Amino acid sequence: VMRIAPLIPRARKVGISALSWANKPCFSKSASNSLISDSVRTMSSKLSGANRIKGTEKNIWVEFGKLAVENKALNLGQGFPDFKPPQHVIDEMMAAVASDNHLMHQYTRSSGHPRLVSALSRLYSPLIGQQLDPNKNVTVSVGAYGVLFCAVQGLINPGDEVVIIEPFFDCYEPMVKVAGGIAHYCPLRPTKTEGVTSSKDWILDPKELESKFNQNTKALIVNNPNNPLGKVFSRDELLMMADLCKKYDTICLSDEVYEWMVYDDNKHIKIASLPGMFERTVTMGSAGKTLSATGWKLGWGIGPEHLIAPMQVLHQNCTYNCPTPVQEAVAGALEFEIDQMDQPDKCYFFSLAKELQPKRDKLAKICQEVGLSPVVPEGGYFMMVSTGNLKTDLPDDGTDDPRDFKFVRWMTTKLKLAAIPPSAFYHQEHKHLGENYVRFCFIKKDETIEAAGDILKKWFGSVKK
Ligand SMILES: Cc1ncc(COP(=O)(O)O)c(C=O)c1O
Repeated sequence: VMRIAPLIPRARKVGISALSWANKPCFSKSASNSLISDSVRTMSSKLSGANRIKGTEKNIWVEFGKLAVENKALNLGQGFPDFKPPQHVIDEMMAAVASDNHLMHQYTRSSGHPRLVSALSRLYSPLIGQQLDPNKNVTVSVGAYGVLFCAVQGLINPGDEVVIIEPFFDCYEPMVKVAGGIAHYCPLRPTKTEGVTSSKDWILDPKELESKFNQNTKALIVNNPNNPLGKVFSRDELLMMADLCKKYDTICLSDEVYEWMVYDDNKHIKIASLPGMFERTVTMGSAGKTLSATGWKLGWGIGPEHLIAPMQVLHQNCTYNCPTPVQEAVAGALEFEIDQMDQPDKCYFFSLAKELQPKRDKLAKICQEVGLSPVVPEGGYFMMVSTGNLKTDLPDDGTDDPRDFKFVRWMTTKLKLAAIPPSAFYHQEHKHLGENYVRFCFIKKDETIEAAGDILKKWFGSVKK
């Protein structure tokens, strides 16, 4: 058992300044707690937000991104690389912006720039096993976030029930709430908790999952590969979910933004490619994740026309279209990668995973060396690491938040190492499943991961064991 003692290590040389403007707060601390002053609030109850957003104010990216920047912490928190996208991706953007075609700077088609939806249908037709119509089976929005929003708002009615597999990407819960849906949660449960474990050891109980479905269930939301766990669902697990979707006649919203990031012998299988699933599945992807350019904020949904059309309607009335040069650049980049797919070493879809696997292993080794137990992920670029054997006398931060929130706040402010608390990826009743872990992101330069290792080793070397 180790005791957590406050210790401020010396400043590190790498990773602090890089991207330090990301998440920089643009309003004062007091204003950030409440954007609406008390005097305005007491004036009229109408001068306030809509009821549907109540209860969705807290956001881990806002809180922990800001905390990392304010503390100049080494950031293994939010999921973005601390290196550039491939050069050809950058060149595509430069070419789009410098193009003689003046239309590159103007509105483009609402549901997706023609060149982009053509590239996406070319990419996904063989992967899903359907000849996709670029105009009818593909839609584009502002990141996978935007696509998720279009799907949930465009497909879920107030009162509809939605089954969400936990841990879930945190925005699913508020999105379903804002749409008026009623969410039911089914967690992946660990079968092993001691020592080094794998995301494979976290499994669904088929009976428990089925107990969340009924005639009112409109959709299942699943994230594969999973953030934060790194679980890559096996064919049998996907077939089990698919059978439930068919039995209860539900839509499947499959968030696959980490589709290319799979390690060892694991294979990512698209649930939409399983028998009878294309007609009920929207598969979601992200240019930000696929091309290591999260700031480009472009995502897509692929599915049957009867599910894609409502999403296109929603998108045309809120965002109308995504930035034209970004779409043109992503189209060019995807065309390039599609042409390289038979040469895995040259294709970023595959080479990124090859680059990430040693980073995953490096981080797992560091964690083991300091006595923390990693859950080695099969996919994605996050690692859940157990902190359960550390004695919990964390400083009181004045909240009744779960232990991992307190732990990450402490680690960010005192050790200057930022992470994300995984209990944020659970509904209230299951937060205990995440609260003895932290989530580290490993799509970082080797020296960043090593610097994180130095912080952990220095601190662990100094604590009472
Ligand atoms: C599982 C998952 N879905 C969706 C997103 C959002 O993707 P985008 O940046 O394309 O909006 C993220 C981002 O971290 C994610 O982890």
